[in-house]
Parts: sequence; C-alpha cells; structure tokens
Amino acid sequence: MNSNAVGDLSLRHVEIKPSPQALLRSLRGLGYSPETALADLIDNSLAAGAREVRIRLEWRDGNPLVEILDDGAGMSFDQLVEAMRFGGAGPDVERKGDDLGRFGLGLKTASLSQCRELTVASRRESVVARLAWDVDRVGQGWHADAPDGSPPGELAAEFQSSGNGTLVSWSKMDRLGGLWGLDRDAFNERISEIRAHLAMTFHRFLSGEARRLAISVNDRTLAAWDPFCRRHDATMALPRDIIRGPDSAITARPYILPHRDRFASEREWEDAGGPGGWVERQGFYVYRGDRIVSAGGWLGLGGARAWTREESSRLARIALDLPVSMDEAWRIDIRKSVARPPAWARGRLAGLGADCRRRAREVFAWRGSRSGGRGRRSDTDGETSWPWETRSGKAVPRYRVRRDHPAVAAVVEALGTESMLLEGLLSALELTVPVERIWLDVAEQGGGEFAQPIATEIAELAASLASLVRSMSNRDDAGVRLDSLLRSLGVIQPALREAVIRKVGEI
Ligand SMILES: Nc1ncnc2c1ncn2[C@@H]1O[C@H](COP(=O)(O)OP(=O)(O)OP(=O)(O)O)[C@@H](O)[C@H]1O
Ligand SMILES: [Mg+2]
Repeated sequence: MNSNAVGDLSLRHVEIKPSPQALLRSLRGLGYSPETALADLIDNSLAAGAREVRIRLEWRDGNPLVEILDDGAGMSFDQLVEAMRFGGAGPDVERKGDDLGRFGLGLKTASLSQCRELTVASRRESVVARLAWDVDRVGQGWHADAPDGSPPGELAAEFQSSGNGTLVSWSKMDRLGGLWGLDRDAFNERISEIRAHLAMTFHRFLSGEARRLAISVNDRTLAAWDPFCRRHDATMALPRDIIRGPDSAITARPYILPHRDRFASEREWEDAGGPGGWVERQGFYVYRGDRIVSAGGWLGLGGARAWTREESSRLARIALDLPVSMDEAWRIDIRKSVARPPAWARGRLAGLGADCRRRAREVFAWRGSRSGGRGRRSDTDGETSWPWETRSGKAVPRYRVRRDHPAVAAVVEALGTESMLLEGLLSALELTVPVERIWLDVAEQGGGEFAQPIATEIAELAASLASLVRSMSNRDDAGVRLDSLLRSLGVIQPALREAVIRKVGEI
C-alpha cells in the first residue's frame, strides 16, 4: 500500500487487479458480429501494409475454424507480445495516418467475441513468432500460450511457406458454431452475409479508389459493392460539400440513386440495395480513413422527431468522409461501427440530409410528378405523358387528373356538350383519392410498386383502353404515335400492351 499526500488530503492506494477470466468474459460481450470482428482484423492488416487478405471459414462438423492470413509487414516476437496485450497502444498514442487502429484492443476483443481460442502467428524477416489466448486457460494471471503451431487449417499450411505476414486463427468457436445451434446451412448463410458486409465496408480498397487491397473469402475474391451505384447513368451525384470543424474538415457528397424501374433486372435492383436492403441502407455512409464505419441511417438528425428510414427516402445516400483525427469528436466506438456527429456539424448535415431526402422522394414517386421524365416509361415525352399531376401546397398534396392530357381531351371532345359530366366525375374522384390507403398498402407491401394487371384482367382492360386509344388517335391534333399514347396511359406491361394493340387494330 502506498500513501500519497495531495493538498491536505491523504490518499492511500489499494491495487485492485482485474480478474482475468471475468474481464475477458465481459469483453467477449461487446457486441461484435462475425463480420464486424473480421473487419477489425482487416483494419490491422491494412495498417501493416498488406496487399492481400485471405479469409477461410470452415465448418468442420460444427466445430469451425476461421483463419485470416495477410501479407503485411508481420511482427517480431516482441511486437507480437505488445499486439496481444489488452489495451496495448491506446487512444493517446500517435499513429500513422493510415492506421485504422485506435484502442489497442481490436485483435483481442474482436477475435475472442467469436472464439474461445485466438492464435496469432506472424513472420517477420523469416522469423516466426506465435502466441495464443485461450479464454478457458487464462486463469488468474494474464498468461498467454506460446504454441509451436497454429490450429491445422488450409491457411496455416500456406503460412508455412509464405513470406512476411500474419495469420490469425480462431478456434473453439462458439458464436459461429454448433454450440449456438447453427447448422451447416446457417453457417454458409453467415458466410454470404460476411462477404456482403466486407464488400461494402472495404469497397474503396477493393476497387482501388483507396490503396488497393484484395480480400478473398473461401478462395472467392470479393468485388467492391458501391453504395452509390456510380456506374449507373441514372444515379444523380449532387455537389460535394465541405464542412469545416474546429481543427479539420469533413466532406459530404449526396447521391440520389435510380428509381427501381431504371434497373435492368430485379437482381440488379436487389444487389444495388445492399446488405439488409434498400430501406435499411439509406442515409449517411460514414467513412473513417476510407473504410465504412456506419452504412446508412440518419445519425439522429431531423429535429425533435429524428428521421427514420422510410420507404420513400430509400434512394437517398450520402457519403461522409471523416479523417481518423476526428475519432474523439465523432465518438467512434470500440467496434468502429457507430459514429455520432459532433454539435458543430449537425446543422449542416441536417440541411444536406433534408435536401437529399426531398430529392429522393421525388425520384421515388416519379410517376406522380409532372416532370416524371426520369422514369424509363416517359423518357421520350415526359412532360405530356402522365395523366396525373401533384399539387403540393403547404398542406397535404392534392392529386389531379390533367385536363390537357390527350386522353381527357379526346373524351371531352367526344362528349361535346355533355363534357361537364366528365368534369364532375373527375373532380369527385380527385376529392376522394384514397391517399392514406394507398400509402399503407405500398408501405406494407414493401416494394413501393403498383401491381400490374393479371392475365384475367387483361382482356377486359384491353377492350376499354383500346376504344380510348382509338378516339385519342382520331383527334386532329393528336399526331402522336400509338406507342407514346399507350405509354401516356401507363400501358407498359408487355402482355397488356400487345392486347390493346390487337384490339385497336380490330376496331
Ligand atoms: N495483421 C497484423 N499485422 C501486423 N501487426 C498487427 C496485425 N494485427 C495487429 N497488429 C499489431 O498489434 C497491435 C494491436 O492490434 P489491435 O487490433 O489489438 O489494436 P489496434 O489496432 O492498435 O487498435 P484497435 O483496438 O482500435 O483495433 C496493432 O497496433 C499492431 O501493431
Ligand atoms: Mg486493430
């Protein structure tokens, strides 16, 4: 016991050592998922200058082995001892600009959240060092094991004959193994989720936008997943915005992704949605040193009633780049999966977010908008094609049938003096558009798409639409091709389109 006088207070110190087993057990519960844990190890490989990271996950009858092998600089025995120390180089240590580490914990906490035995083997200048933490053997002291070999796996065999680099092996896996009730199929499913998560988190490295890193999972190289669909020509990139803080700046770039109809196939649309899907993946993508820490969500912005992830704003995504030096201000957590904007940035970010959400809603609802020209269906004559217009005043938007639409004009003409009847009917319909009902239906259905007519409805629809199209094309000022008349009535589904054309020919 020491005693120490501070002012007039006399303090006595009592050393209280953590209980290794209890502390380890608690650290295991930090809340990593297998994919966030692997991402943490990839951060380390990047910091060690690796060009390639190979990951293997083997099921082994419910007793899985996970291996991560990189070709980075590797560690000497002394360096490995420091690497295996809990709380080695903590937040106060100065780090290189591209070092994604911060807490001196990731290697240990991320690994032991998934397994009970962590073995690290590292080769530097032809010398191999190896240390292991075994949760069940830590006992009362902090004694790591120094085994002669790594758990036998495919990458362990390769490590034997490779150059500088580090092999991390997770064995006695509980979280991903049979112990947690997983079966082989569920394990494989998790591997797909891991692939998707890593392809997203490290997309700038995988694509070479940042320093290039190749990552493979079970021998399949990951392709970058770009959250902003920048290769799609209908993606709208809004101007970059720089938000200056007390000592450094963050960059924000909003994107409005294309409407569902602009994707060539359902599959492409789903892919572009990303892990968890379109609704989940809207919002801010926070990058810390080019690596994504948080993919989507509105960062608690939006005022008293913070914005939620809504169907209608699902096409809004904003890239936000933070320098690693802003960790403190953004309260980056140990798992590097949560970031919170500091007060000085909130106003600007909220402005950007509101603008991006508004534009995204416009694209989302393009069929109801006057300028619906962003949708494929009205590419050629967007201004005149759509029979609906939205009047959004201050209160609730109103939906009106356009009186100058060729179909309406044709019917007015045909009715002659009786056309007031049509006007009455349209007005009554407009007053009673079941907006809430439609909204609920679309939200519940989840897709935000309107049902297309089914086979049994087609014959009936075709007959009535055909006579309307006929009278539209009979008008003197029509002069429009059948094609665009059909489009202007929303007749785009191939089967219905064919049926109407056939009927028009018969009339
Ligand atoms: N694959 C690797 N190659 C070389 N050195 C490594 C590797 N993995 C870890 N290290 C070394 O071990 C140290 C500890 O890693 P660990 O992930 O526990 O903490 P950190 O990266 O410093 O911080 P954080 O907790 O934020 O990840 C690293 O700082 C690095 O020096
Ligand atoms: Mg780390």
